[in-house]
Amino acid sequence: MSLRRTKVVAALAGVALLAAGLTACSSERETTPEETSGSGGAAVAGGELIGIAMPTKSLERWNKDGAHLEELLEDAGYETTLQYADNKVDQQITQIQNMINLDPAVLVIASIDGTALGPVLQQAADAGIKIVAYDRLINETENVDYYATFDNYKVGQLQGEFIVDALDLDNAAGPFNLEPFAGSPDDNNAKFFFSGAWDVLSPYVESGKLVVPSGKAPASNDDWASIGIQGWLSDTAQSEMQNRLNSFYGSDKVDVVLSPNDSLALGIEQALESSGYAVGTDWPIVTGQDADQANVVNMLAGRQSMTVWKDTRTLGDQVATMVDQIVKGETVTVNDEETYDNGVKVVPTYLLPPQVVTADTVQSALVDSGFYKASDLGL
Ligand code: BGC
Repeated sequence: MSLRRTKVVAALAGVALLAAGLTACSSERETTPEETSGSGGAAVAGGELIGIAMPTKSLERWNKDGAHLEELLEDAGYETTLQYADNKVDQQITQIQNMINLDPAVLVIASIDGTALGPVLQQAADAGIKIVAYDRLINETENVDYYATFDNYKVGQLQGEFIVDALDLDNAAGPFNLEPFAGSPDDNNAKFFFSGAWDVLSPYVESGKLVVPSGKAPASNDDWASIGIQGWLSDTAQSEMQNRLNSFYGSDKVDVVLSPNDSLALGIEQALESSGYAVGTDWPIVTGQDADQANVVNMLAGRQSMTVWKDTRTLGDQVATMVDQIVKGETVTVNDEETYDNGVKVVPTYLLPPQVVTADTVQSALVDSGFYKASDLGL
């Protein structure tokens, strides 16, 4: 760890100790060096410090997101503190409280539970700190100033359309066996992903062209959480898929799995392998999202059919621009002032476009753009 980083870790540890003193009974683990990074010691004095709260290091994308945004802001002359919360809501709240104590100008937050931050964001607002919701909307509070994300509904739509094309649902006789999954019930994005996909696929379920042998087809878009995988965990998706295959498939095969993201797809692919499915014979269509490295490798090996790639560098670029505009008192660039109602207000949003990547476009989309090195993917 560099000296600059050590200094901020030490400063944050001091704040953490203070917070621990104030909440003497709390057994909550405070920030550790692994969870924390940031730029120079001047950050503690306040002014142009930007706090970045990310949900977890356990998913590849958040590591990339955090590192990229931190680098952009530091290059633009800001001080930063970046914290990861191990997918634990209380830990994220404590981290945000600690950041508020450092008097940042702006907090950028990728929430774990978008409904749990109201009280801590009230503290931030009272201290004059602006809030940008990153990737996931923060709900039920007026204290979220801007939101930047990829078009989440479009992500699901791209997955649904991919399935329609891959199975040629408008022409093929079918029926095809579908198993749908949805994301974490506490993640505001998950309902958009599901709605986008289900608006495309449900007419084929209604007509009988797609059948869901497990019966795990939500009655409507609003029931998506009934098939949600809490915390987006690969292991949970794996056991759910394994249960469905064991209980509802005899000699019958699953033809297609709607997986909302790559972490779920990894678990689903593991369950398929354990059940004897083989690439080149009966391996089904499996969708995904994020272009995580392991999933891109799986796509190249024929184990995953597509991923919806969200170039997180462009999200970081956009958020860094918004932060800079906020700090300078300029008009903040948004392109959607209708869609993202958080229950209290419509949050001004900047939406970025997601795109489909398949094995055929890995090189042109992911390698040529520098998102991955060819050697990362075994190319
Ligand atoms: C993000 C996805 C990600 C998922 C799990 C969602 O909020 O938009 O990109 O796969 O969380 O971390």
